[in-house]
Amino acid sequence: MNNQIVINIDKISALCKTRGFIFPGSEIYGGMANTWDYGPLGVELKNNIKREWWKFFVQQNPTSVGMDGGILLNPLVWKASGHVDGFSDPLMDCKACKTRHRADKLIEAASKGKVNADFKPNEWLEKWIADNKVKCPTCGKIDWTNIRQFNLMFKTFRGVTEDATNAVYLRPETAQNQFVDFLNVQRSMRLRVPFGIGQIGKAFRNEITPGNFTFRTVEFEQMEHQLFCREKESKDFYDLYKKKAMEFYTERLGLDKKKLRFKDHEHLCHYAKMACDMEYEFPSLGFSEIAGTHHRGTHDLSSHAKTSGKAQDYTDPVTGEKFVPTVIESSHGCDRILLACLCNAYSEEAVTADSKDSDGNRVVLKLHPRLAPYKVAVLPLQKKEQGDMATKIYTELCKDFPCTFDDTASIGKRYRRQDEIGTPFCITVDFDTEKDNTVTIRERDTMKQERIAVAKLKDYINERIK
Ligand code: GAP
Repeated sequence: MNNQIVINIDKISALCKTRGFIFPGSEIYGGMANTWDYGPLGVELKNNIKREWWKFFVQQNPTSVGMDGGILLNPLVWKASGHVDGFSDPLMDCKACKTRHRADKLIEAASKGKVNADFKPNEWLEKWIADNKVKCPTCGKIDWTNIRQFNLMFKTFRGVTEDATNAVYLRPETAQNQFVDFLNVQRSMRLRVPFGIGQIGKAFRNEITPGNFTFRTVEFEQMEHQLFCREKESKDFYDLYKKKAMEFYTERLGLDKKKLRFKDHEHLCHYAKMACDMEYEFPSLGFSEIAGTHHRGTHDLSSHAKTSGKAQDYTDPVTGEKFVPTVIESSHGCDRILLACLCNAYSEEAVTADSKDSDGNRVVLKLHPRLAPYKVAVLPLQKKEQGDMATKIYTELCKDFPCTFDDTASIGKRYRRQDEIGTPFCITVDFDTEKDNTVTIRERDTMKQERIAVAKLKDYINERIK
């Protein structure tokens, strides 16, 4: 079976739906494009990823602190940041079927990824599409409008009247909170440059291109860290944060290093002086961006100083030096990382006949134990005989770990269910448990089983999920 395994995003998305990780958004109303809901296991996995990120970039980063800013900010923030004028996609309408498409993505698809049309001028895009007779992917006709720039920010209205003066935007990136609160954080915490501010939160973009499951959504979570430093040390920090990103993905999340690569931006967006993506090789999508390290220079703080009329200079409390710090941003998309973790973990295996719990093939999510939604499943061999004992063990373990309990179907089937959702340990309570207070503990990846005293379970599991 292993030799012919085909893993694709459809398989992952089907597993996510049937096993409670991710559901289509508003499904009973026919869904809504590029929206998804995280179910009971998805929210656990997401929280685990966010916890690891926070530990690595904030808690264990001695010069960093955290914050949690609002989704709605004064609209001038987005004027100053450049998003009102510069955060847009080049869109074309098909006059025949009235569908809307991103011109750069049409070219990428038509050239099978050989032409990178990012940041090309509209005239260039229109000419390429005309010269190469690019067809509408929906109806197959060639009847395009000219390109219009379409701002990606979601606009809404504050208060009771829907006029332009009340317009506000849902933030398209979390980063601006860290910039507008830079001096509040620095002064209240008496911080000296270089220091960082980390934040996790929702961001919104009016994406019209197909999302490829949760890869591209209109609402997503970002985990962003802004490092404020002196210009002369900024290149070193830029390199350091690229390295940190790689360490985070491989050491903390357990992603396969061979499926990760850096990709320098050929074209820089409005705020960046240097930028490098971290890409993961997804099934079906190939190498695609999950995170980025950006040298934002003094763009954001200087623009906010200019637009607000409030100087954003930092004054060093010891040397008295005064300057606008340079920013190195480490930006991570939680939803794409979660998808990468699922793809990385998904495996289909033939279970060899000699393994004790063998009953054919199995799907197993080999998630790092730290990320697994449940750490332990407690399974009474027979509901009537061992149900009470198993409930007692489960209740005790729940105090320390996310656990689940299953007393239905054969033990082999129950192991398979846990394999599919990535539970690293199954505890079977059997006839001997009552006699000697021991249980069988089965490890997900190796399927090895050992006998262990109930009293030692917590230490055993703790040691292995570290
Ligand atoms: N503050 C910088 C910034 O927002 P970005 O490259 O536009 O940079 C950072 O976004 C990360 O956010 C991306 O690497 C990606 O993981 C995630 N992201 C961006 N747009 C997304 C979308 N529509 N759906 C899901 N994740 C997205």
